[in-house]
Amino acid sequence: MSETSKQKKIALVSGANRGIGLAIAIGLAQQGVTVLMGTRNLKNGEAVCAQHAQEGLDIRPVQLDTTDDASVRAVSSLIQREYGRLDILVNNAGIGLDFVPDLSVVEKMEQTLMLNVTGTIRLTDALLPLLEAAGHASIVNVSSELGSFGLRADKNWIYAELVMPTYQASKAAVNSLTVSYAKLLASKGIKVNSICPGYTATDATKGAAMPATRTPEQAARVAIKLALIGQDGPTGTFENEDGQLPW
Ligand SMILES: NC(=O)c1ccc[n+]([C@@H]2O[C@H](COP(=O)([O-])OP(=O)(O)OC[C@H]3O[C@@H](n4cnc5c(N)ncnc54)[C@H](OP(=O)(O)O)[C@@H]3O)[C@@H](O)[C@H]2O)c1
Repeated sequence: MSETSKQKKIALVSGANRGIGLAIAIGLAQQGVTVLMGTRNLKNGEAVCAQHAQEGLDIRPVQLDTTDDASVRAVSSLIQREYGRLDILVNNAGIGLDFVPDLSVVEKMEQTLMLNVTGTIRLTDALLPLLEAAGHASIVNVSSELGSFGLRADKNWIYAELVMPTYQASKAAVNSLTVSYAKLLASKGIKVNSICPGYTATDATKGAAMPATRTPEQAARVAIKLALIGQDGPTGTFENEDGQLPW
């Protein structure tokens, strides 16, 4: 392990080769963090990293499919071998399939839960010893206000009429994981928070009935803020850029 990697924070962002995950990875690297860019397809990740190499950002692609035990184990071993700890984990990889034709609702539910929920817990669980080794680590779960029971109960909420049964159930489950892990990991100094990036123009929202105008860079800000919170920062919270959100 080099002197530099002992001093710099080490972060892993899942689903970071495009969209909001990429903006989080770049934003963290711009703050001086060594960022491991989780990418299902290593060649895609290498091409994206090459585009940012001339900016001097410390971003390195790592093959990561959060639905695959072997892939998650390999990333965990790589981080153990090369860094010995992980300061920041951003569970960003996620999908929403409610508006995809040609899939039954059961197929949508299974695939969405497999990535958004089981993928999050698989990656988090595998990395716990490395997060613990960092002393004061931070986990950020990229959730969505669409999963908030509190907001969904409000008839005046902007998305009150929007119904995405499988995506909303998955993000409510992600929020539940945040609360559970915040409690489980409090004594180890690990902060765990959920964020909502806001409705953002990415591949996930391309062609949606309501065009998204928010940029991934704007969306990434709240995740970067929570990723970099210090020892006195919050844990077990759910927020967007305007502040706390109801569960
Ligand atoms: N966009 C929005 O308006 C919005 C709003 C609220 C919350 N969010 C949340 O923000 C997060 C990012 O969304 P986005 O809009 O940036 O989506 P996106 O552009 O569709 O990007 C999704 C990322 O997840 C990766 N991914 C897919 N399956 C994976 C797997 N099995 N293992 C690891 N990575 C996988 C994708 O990799 P490939 O390139 O290999 O497919 C891609 O890098 C998601 O959790 C989403 O629910 C988004």
